[in-house]
Amino acid sequence: MDWLSHQIKVKYRKFWKYFNRITKVPGLLWIILISIPVFFIAFTHIRPKLSNIFTEMKNIEFEDRNKGYLVKTVGCKIPDLPVFSSDIAKYFEYEFDGAHCNKDLPPLVQSNLTSLFLDKDSLLKYNVSNLDLFYCCYKELKRKIPVGHPDSQYEFSSACSKFEKTVEVKEEFVLVQCIYDNEKIYEDLFAFIPPKHDVALLDKNRKQFNILIIGIDGISRLNFHRQMNKTVKFLKQLDFTEFLVYNKIADNTYPNLISVLTGENEKTIQNTCRNSSKYFDKCEFIWNNFKAKKYITSFAEDSAWMGIFNYQKYGFQKQPTDYMWGFFDRIGEELLGNSKSLNVIQCIGPREAYKMLVQYIYDFVTRMTSWRVPYFAFFWSSSLSHDDLNKPRIGDDVYLNLFKNMHENQYFNNTIVIVMSDHGMRFGSFRQTYQGRVEERLPFLFIRIPQEFEEKYPIATSNLKRNARVLTTPFDLHETLVDLASPNNLLDQFILEGRRESKSKFGLSLFHKIELTRNCEDAGISDHWCTCLDSSSVGINSEIIQLANFTVNYMNEILSGYAECENLQLKNVSTAQVLHHKINGTKEAMKDYLINFQTLPGNGLFEATVRQDGKKSIQVVGSISRLNFYGQQSACITDTHLKLYCYCKNLFGFV
Ligand SMILES: *[C@@H]1O[C@H](CO)[C@@H](O)[C@H](O)[C@H]1NC(C)=O
Ligand SMILES: *[C@@H]1O[C@H](CO)[C@@H](O)[C@H](O)[C@H]1NC(C)=O
Ligand SMILES: *[C@@H]1O[C@H](CO)[C@@H](O)[C@H](O)[C@H]1NC(C)=O
Ligand SMILES: *[C@@H]1O[C@H](CO)[C@@H](O)[C@H](O)[C@H]1NC(C)=O
Ligand SMILES: *[C@@H]1O[C@H](CO)[C@@H](O)[C@H](O)[C@H]1NC(C)=O
Ligand SMILES: *[C@@H]1O[C@H](CO)[C@@H](O)[C@H](O)[C@H]1NC(C)=O
Ligand SMILES: *[C@@H]1O[C@H](CO)[C@@H](O)[C@H](O)[C@H]1NC(C)=O
Ligand SMILES: *[C@@H]1O[C@H](CO)[C@@H](O)[C@H](O)[C@H]1NC(C)=O
Repeated sequence: MDWLSHQIKVKYRKFWKYFNRITKVPGLLWIILISIPVFFIAFTHIRPKLSNIFTEMKNIEFEDRNKGYLVKTVGCKIPDLPVFSSDIAKYFEYEFDGAHCNKDLPPLVQSNLTSLFLDKDSLLKYNVSNLDLFYCCYKELKRKIPVGHPDSQYEFSSACSKFEKTVEVKEEFVLVQCIYDNEKIYEDLFAFIPPKHDVALLDKNRKQFNILIIGIDGISRLNFHRQMNKTVKFLKQLDFTEFLVYNKIADNTYPNLISVLTGENEKTIQNTCRNSSKYFDKCEFIWNNFKAKKYITSFAEDSAWMGIFNYQKYGFQKQPTDYMWGFFDRIGEELLGNSKSLNVIQCIGPREAYKMLVQYIYDFVTRMTSWRVPYFAFFWSSSLSHDDLNKPRIGDDVYLNLFKNMHENQYFNNTIVIVMSDHGMRFGSFRQTYQGRVEERLPFLFIRIPQEFEEKYPIATSNLKRNARVLTTPFDLHETLVDLASPNNLLDQFILEGRRESKSKFGLSLFHKIELTRNCEDAGISDHWCTCLDSSSVGINSEIIQLANFTVNYMNEILSGYAECENLQLKNVSTAQVLHHKINGTKEAMKDYLINFQTLPGNGLFEATVRQDGKKSIQVVGSISRLNFYGQQSACITDTHLKLYCYCKNLFGFV
């Protein structure tokens, strides 16, 4: 035994002697006994703050190896590209000319939460000079259950109820008509939020957290910063967590959202709830989980002619949520749509569709908050952002004000707010650049956890914040919502027990720590959409041209059942990159090439990931991206995937 350990032993004995002496004092014993509960209370109060500190510490742990990278984990490495740089400036210099609804004629009728009213200042603009010859009336607009055809059937009540200055409306959707001198001079549509449940019967003392999801279509994380920086700044002020590497799992809106809403992918859902019906009624949507907990549910989207479940699809028979504004928008576009820009009908009558949706979001949340009922709401806007990289800018103030007003009215208390997109811009010249490709795959995702939630579920909340810097997907968001529908799973003791089994194959709830080894394969992201892989350019040699030609032949095979589509030929290969799978020692012989090429006829630009395994086997990985607009070129077919490739033989019959 050496000198030091001897000294420690001596000190230890002395300490015990002393300790035994003082614990014999009953007064001190009492103090200790009393201080235990005091300590416990203090601990439960300061613990949320502690978990914040832990989150910060974890971020520091990420920070110092992240120089130049958004993430740099064992499983995933993604470069930190700039919001602005001279390389990409030219794609963002132009201004988008906004919509001119009804050729800039103002609305003649307006509404608030409960009533319609005449906008007298506008009467002159409509050349109304003799009020005796003028009146307005309204009819109810009702959805009809579709049978054997897409969800687009509607009817009006037969009577048109006249009103003078103002009228209180009990219906959900109404059509207003104004008549002057026996001629119809004005038509408009309005949505209200009438109570649909016996509100008096709802248990207002339940402390459930509302779920408010606000989506804006087709905006990458970086383009959100570029176009809507006031909104981004405000979200950050409100302590939203920004997910830096939320990677899409498929090409366009439908598959990237069906995964959020059901946990399934486009293929599997076809074999489960859609195997015997064209409608989506049998699918297990996440809002059903909340309905089971007596939440009020709402689903609203604009550009509903190409709605998530309606574009080349049948939608629903039975309305899936308590409130469904998308139906109103679809009929509005059909009856009063104007100011079309590419795919988007920007206006319904005198108003921009996205502003109508934003107003509806505000009204809906106002109603639910004042009724004090828990709600799950999924709102999706495409009309602001679908077709132009620079258009979202014109909506920055509109969204900023929405968030400001909701926050100022304390609508975010007891509410989990998720602000998100589905993918970045999929078409156009910026998409053909390296940065454009990466951005297309990384949409924005911001989540705000209210203080009340954090206090109840401190570890879960701290995990969620920490996962902002790990590879995440729409499947994960689904699992997160599953947890929110049963938040008892999120109590510290259950979080510490470990993850429950995921409902979806790949998803991991963001309330549990995601492993740093996670790679695209683990997350259910095919190599074609994976942003974790390093790439380097390779020259266009005969081998690359052969791979491109292989891809064109593959596309022709897919199109072979469609006599209306032309046979495609390889025109040119513009760029090629080899993707490095350094992450989990894939076989040396296997190489993935990302190839951009053009085809004839039609000059379609495409990007494919082609895997060459040894000398013999060649395979196209995932889907093939279309990088320029197909417009009317594929009007002869309806399959949403084949539309990207098909060039119609009889083109002019469709234009
Ligand atoms: C809506 O407008 C009507 C008519 O101007 C008014 O009487 C009513 O108080 C307003 N309601 C709300 C909720 O603002
Ligand atoms: C009002 O009258 C003017 C002059 O006749 C005409 O140019 C304008 O189009 C009219 N406006 C409407 C809304 O009919
Ligand atoms: C947003 O960006 C514009 C120009 O792109 C800039 O002038 C403005 O200062 C930015 N605003 C904020 C709040 O960052
Ligand atoms: C459709 O899928 C469901 C659920 O997986 C299954 O029970 C049913 O038998 C299937 N129906 C058909 C026609 O394949
Ligand atoms: C919302 O939360 C804030 C801060 O916790 C609190 O001061 C306020 O009273 C709450 N408002 C409502 C309506 O619950
Ligand atoms: C591409 O493949 C087609 C069909 O096999 C063939 O006819 C054509 O010559 C090939 N073109 C090139 C450039 O290899
Ligand atoms: C074909 O691709 C090459 C790059 O490989 C490019 O330099 C050339 O401009 C392209 N030609 C056409 C006609 O697009
Ligand atoms: C690497 O890949 C193999 C086989 O695909 C798999 O069994 C293993 O778990 C992977 N390792 C990591 C760290 O992902």
